[in-house]
Amino acid sequence: MTHLELREKFFRFWQEKPRRHTAIPSASLIPENDPSTLFTGSGMQPLIPYLLGTPNPSGRRLVDIQKCFRGQDIDEVGDNRHDTYFEMMGNWSLGDYFKKEQLTWYYEFLTEVLGLEKGKLYISCFAGYKNIPEDGESSRIWKSLGIADDHIHFYSAEHNWWSRSGTPEQMPAGEIGGPDSEVYYEFTQIPHDPKYGKRCHPACGCGRFLEIGNSVFIQYQKQEDGSFKDLPQKNVDFGGGIERTLAAILNEPDQFKTDVYIPIIKSIELASDLQYGQESLADRNFRIIADHIKAAVFLISAGVQTSNKDRGYILRRLIRRAIRFSRYLNITESFIEPVSDAVFTVYGGVYPEVLKEKKTIVDALINEERKFQQTLANGLRELEKIAPKGKISASEAFRLYESFGFPYEITREEAQNKGLSVAGKAEFAKEVQKHQEQSRSGSQGKFRGGLADRSEQATKYHTATHLLQAALRQVLGKHVHQQGSNITAERLRFDFSHPGKMTEEQIKKVEDLVNEQIANGLPQVVETMTYEEAIRSGALAFFKERYPEKVTVFSFGDPSTGSGSPFSREICGGPHVKNTKELGQVEIFKEESAGAGIRRIYARLI
Ligand code: SER
Repeated sequence: MTHLELREKFFRFWQEKPRRHTAIPSASLIPENDPSTLFTGSGMQPLIPYLLGTPNPSGRRLVDIQKCFRGQDIDEVGDNRHDTYFEMMGNWSLGDYFKKEQLTWYYEFLTEVLGLEKGKLYISCFAGYKNIPEDGESSRIWKSLGIADDHIHFYSAEHNWWSRSGTPEQMPAGEIGGPDSEVYYEFTQIPHDPKYGKRCHPACGCGRFLEIGNSVFIQYQKQEDGSFKDLPQKNVDFGGGIERTLAAILNEPDQFKTDVYIPIIKSIELASDLQYGQESLADRNFRIIADHIKAAVFLISAGVQTSNKDRGYILRRLIRRAIRFSRYLNITESFIEPVSDAVFTVYGGVYPEVLKEKKTIVDALINEERKFQQTLANGLRELEKIAPKGKISASEAFRLYESFGFPYEITREEAQNKGLSVAGKAEFAKEVQKHQEQSRSGSQGKFRGGLADRSEQATKYHTATHLLQAALRQVLGKHVHQQGSNITAERLRFDFSHPGKMTEEQIKKVEDLVNEQIANGLPQVVETMTYEEAIRSGALAFFKERYPEKVTVFSFGDPSTGSGSPFSREICGGPHVKNTKELGQVEIFKEESAGAGIRRIYARLI
């Protein structure tokens, strides 16, 4: 089965009777209006408002395949089952069906639609935590479906509880989560590795079992006092990796041998003149390059540009790491273009909007590759200066890393080539840690807030963003389109297309216009309609996104009382203030470039 067939079967299964789910497109890899996290790392993230009770215009039963990126897993990439970029098949009950239907249907999908062998499926259930009871109900349902007793395992909250932050203990107040039940596929051809414990079991981590899907029963919200309260509705959040599900279908423990990777791996084989899958150390390098270039393509397509902080830094790290690992495969020529080409071959049909940006994406990758070559050249020159000392200390290795972007591993290799001794990785890591502690105070709390908190302040800033976009379009012209936004408790940041620096006068005009509309007390009008109707009615859409058929439109300024059309009208999930009066006043305090043809403004409420 190809990945295209799997996608098709998944959507069809959940859309058809009796399930009748509505398909929605993947949200962007950059979370909208959610500064609590840099990337969309699960299918659940974009749906948080609806899990909390906001009605979704597409209904209570949804099915999607969400693009995900988990930067925190970057160091785990290299084995046969971890990646930073992956896609999650999801089906959602927003206060509709619950455990019985979910587990029964998912089981039907696995065994009847995908044809997985029943005997190779293992289940995990939640063992309970403090006053949250064990999930015996899920276990009973699995048994009634024919799963044998010894294929069902109960695990604690570290394992069988899902929230964005982890265990119930780790969750901040306001966050939602619940017990989950996973399905594992057993690769009987892989013997247990005793390194992972005496006894093999689904979650032992040895590689014999692969988790292919997780049904989360999101029914709790953490309270200020640490207790858990039932949400107004009980939800199902199912997530199953495309890559891992394909591996199970093929009974192939290595997901890099499935067709979401094969063309990419082939392109690396061509560039390196080596073969993948020889069970040698080179395999790890292949996987890292394949994963990182794929992830980089998707991050750039979502609007990320390389830089030295936040998202841009992670993108830079991915590209540079891929280049670094290409050296271990003795790749000397530029390999970025053929490898990214292969990424487009795999996904072009699934994400035409990514394919459309191919040239921009490849240019950005090549540009970063050039910069890195330059960095390497500078670092090598610096290394030459240190060479006469005969050794490289941890602080020198750190300086090479910090000021020249020279990764420790390259310092070590180059030093060894020159016969120099070099401080060990542990010493180097200590230097890095020392530095991080010094700079941490400055960045603490950076990602607090966000959609998860849906605080009053965040809501106000969200509405202010809409008013600013409307005002910018009036003052600068209709070429202004949102390119990104970010909200914290203290300010908003808004990126938009515009060719040149804004003049003082333009900034003042925008500010005045927004404040005038705030003072006018424009009421919020919220409507649900089809995407086409929304666009026809003049609603702005974030053009990088694909939208579901039915969307929510927020307007400020009632068309029936005003001059015919509202001041602001956007397709958006909310939340927003009920009346612009609640905002007080907006002040733009900074305007700068955010890349070619993109300006960035910062504004606060005063
Ligand atoms: N949110 C769950 C996960 O990421 C299932 O979609 O595993």
